[in-house]
Amino acid sequence: MPVTDRPAEVFVRGEGAWLWDAADTRYLDWLQGWAVNALGHCPPEVSLALGAQSSLLLTPSPALYNLPSLQLAERLCALSGFDQVFFGSTGAEANEGAIKLARKWGQLHRGGAYEIITFDNAFHGRNLATMAASGKPGWEALFAPGMPGFVKAVFNDMASVKALLSERTVAVMLEPVQGEAGVRPASPGFVRALRQWCDRHGLLLIFDEVQTGCGRLGQLFAYQHYGVMPDIMSLGKGLGAGVPISALLAQAHCSVFTHGDQGGTYAGNPLMCAVGLAVLETLSQSAFLEQVRTQGALLQRGLQALSARHGLGEVRGLGLLWALELGSDHAAAVVRECRRRGLLVNSARPHCLRFMPRLNSTADEIAQGLQLLDAAIATVLEEFAAQ
Ligand SMILES: Cc1ncc(COP(=O)(O)O)c(C=O)c1O
Repeated sequence: MPVTDRPAEVFVRGEGAWLWDAADTRYLDWLQGWAVNALGHCPPEVSLALGAQSSLLLTPSPALYNLPSLQLAERLCALSGFDQVFFGSTGAEANEGAIKLARKWGQLHRGGAYEIITFDNAFHGRNLATMAASGKPGWEALFAPGMPGFVKAVFNDMASVKALLSERTVAVMLEPVQGEAGVRPASPGFVRALRQWCDRHGLLLIFDEVQTGCGRLGQLFAYQHYGVMPDIMSLGKGLGAGVPISALLAQAHCSVFTHGDQGGTYAGNPLMCAVGLAVLETLSQSAFLEQVRTQGALLQRGLQALSARHGLGEVRGLGLLWALELGSDHAAAVVRECRRRGLLVNSARPHCLRFMPRLNSTADEIAQGLQLLDAAIATVLEEFAAQ
């Protein structure tokens, strides 16, 4: 089904930072599966775990214990400070689980409160519940009627959050850095104020770390960057580093699912959990995270220099998740020109480019990417100037 506009090239092979199409053209990949391939394409950790587990046990049944899911649950809880976890396959599934958990908790502890405060321009996924939680412009009317129970505040604006409080309110849900909105970080003061306000009013704080967790911001979890512990957190993308696994984590006080509340045929299947476990071992090493911050700073400086040279706009981000404001709606043209030159990047908005290189990027890859981007922007600006 024609659900998205794809370029004509067909991609056949990936290795580390690089992707090859069927014509054997090589591309430096700064999409990495939309911030999924934390360790680049086909990393040995993932291939080895898949190989070993695939000949041992694939899917016993979600109603039976299996070793990799127990091991991953234990490791993830120990590293994150949460008490319980439910594994799914996609970020949307983890977020829908978070919404269900908050509603169940509201039924048990807040007199049936169910409304969740979310944010303008937020992105939480593409099932009906997470679309309703999202604040993507134009989505309100899609697939009507939308799911009720969400009200939208303005990101980084505490007054707009406070104005939405009612006896129906059960939780606040946000991305610590809004990725799809164009890499817009929450301010530390805003996140701290949210935590205090939720505590004062007995509300749950939910972090959607599907894009920003698992090392993407240079900390294993985004909440660590802010020094604020949420009650519920969702993970996806980087946890599987290329395979579909997501996680819904909760502190004990709000981990209220009981038998029958949540499930799924592939929930906690050993094949994906074995990969998650192997990936987490690499991502959680302090030297690895230090390297994310180092290469991130290199990318930031390079983007700032490039922005100054071409008279562009703001450079925003953390770790290895960055955006560059172009100051004009040329992002699609720059994306095309980058691809022509062998660099894959994303336009999060018509005026804004987003960069999501692998977390184990080398300084040389960052330099190569910046060089290709520089040349592509120069070409596009020249073309538009000549029109
Ligand atoms: C913050 C955030 N939440 C949720 C999702 C949805 O994840 P998935 O596409 O795996 O359902 C995404 C995907 O881009 C995301 O960036």
